[in-house]
Amino acid sequence: MSDAQRARLAAWRGGLVWGFWLLVGAALLARWLRTRIGATYQLRHSSGRVISAPVGRSLLEAIRDAGLPHASVCGGRARCTTCRVRVGDGLAALPPPGAAEARALARIEAPPNVRLACQTRPLRDVAVAPLLPAGTDAAFARRPGAAQGRERRVVAVFVDLRDSTRLGESRLPYDVVFIMNQFFAEMHQALRATNGYYAQFRGDGLLALYGLQSELPQACREALAGAAEMQRRMDALNASLAADLAEPLRIGIGAHAGVAIVGTMGPPEAPIHSAIGDNINIAARLEGMTKAYQCTMVVSEETLRTAGIDPRGAPLHRVRVRGRNERLNVYAIDDPRKLLQQ
Ligand code: FES
Repeated sequence: MSDAQRARLAAWRGGLVWGFWLLVGAALLARWLRTRIGATYQLRHSSGRVISAPVGRSLLEAIRDAGLPHASVCGGRARCTTCRVRVGDGLAALPPPGAAEARALARIEAPPNVRLACQTRPLRDVAVAPLLPAGTDAAFARRPGAAQGRERRVVAVFVDLRDSTRLGESRLPYDVVFIMNQFFAEMHQALRATNGYYAQFRGDGLLALYGLQSELPQACREALAGAAEMQRRMDALNASLAADLAEPLRIGIGAHAGVAIVGTMGPPEAPIHSAIGDNINIAARLEGMTKAYQCTMVVSEETLRTAGIDPRGAPLHRVRVRGRNERLNVYAIDDPRKLLQQ
């Protein structure tokens, strides 16, 4: 082949490569234009309105275009998070958050189904619910407890010191404070030893949560281990205070596993990280039942089953609790330590 022919061939080959990449580029451009120009998405708003908006328009713009009020203190710059929405259907099809949105969402520990309306530009239909009132200001949005709770499967454990009022009748207040502080210190240690979280102080008792950092089966096992550890520490405390006590201190424990809203709540000056919901109330009622059943702990069957722990012949009761239509199976446990001996 002559030099001239070789040069012509090289030119052809170069032309073909260019042509190929031009075709690929044109196809991609056409696809992008098809999604951006003329295409619309439907936004199902929690108010019941269904809004049609052009692809490329943000959730916030679409909501405002439809005449609905929506909080946006920073003017849509991903700086305030007041525009945040909970996304229902269509979450998986949303483009992922950009860097600024991801940063803002991480700052408020938003769950994965929460997005900033000002930053989110859906390509497909989507259902959203605003999380803050339209008139919210930035301080409210950042305030601990401002709609920051999230649903979580946890184990709620209520612990109560029995007959604490009787303790106060026969002692000087300072002595009672000393004993109560010893009691709380021991409960705190029991929680620390078993991955429990001390959520609320209640005068003569406390609410502990398990499962803030573990999956539910493990949380249930840890909660039962926590109850056993509390009993062990109460025995040790009674032994050390034997000379000062007319009769040993006793505790009642109620434990139940289920979904609750877990988050920062309470007055702005003294917020606490705690949980609310029917399942938390149920645990409180189970603790109250320890008096009627004259036992140390009442635990729901669900909690034991999820933990994979046998009730070892403990009496089963079918009880009615507010917040549940059907009766709940619970076990009355004399000594939680026996549950772990299997
Ligand atoms: S309006 Fe402030 S983050 Fe969206």
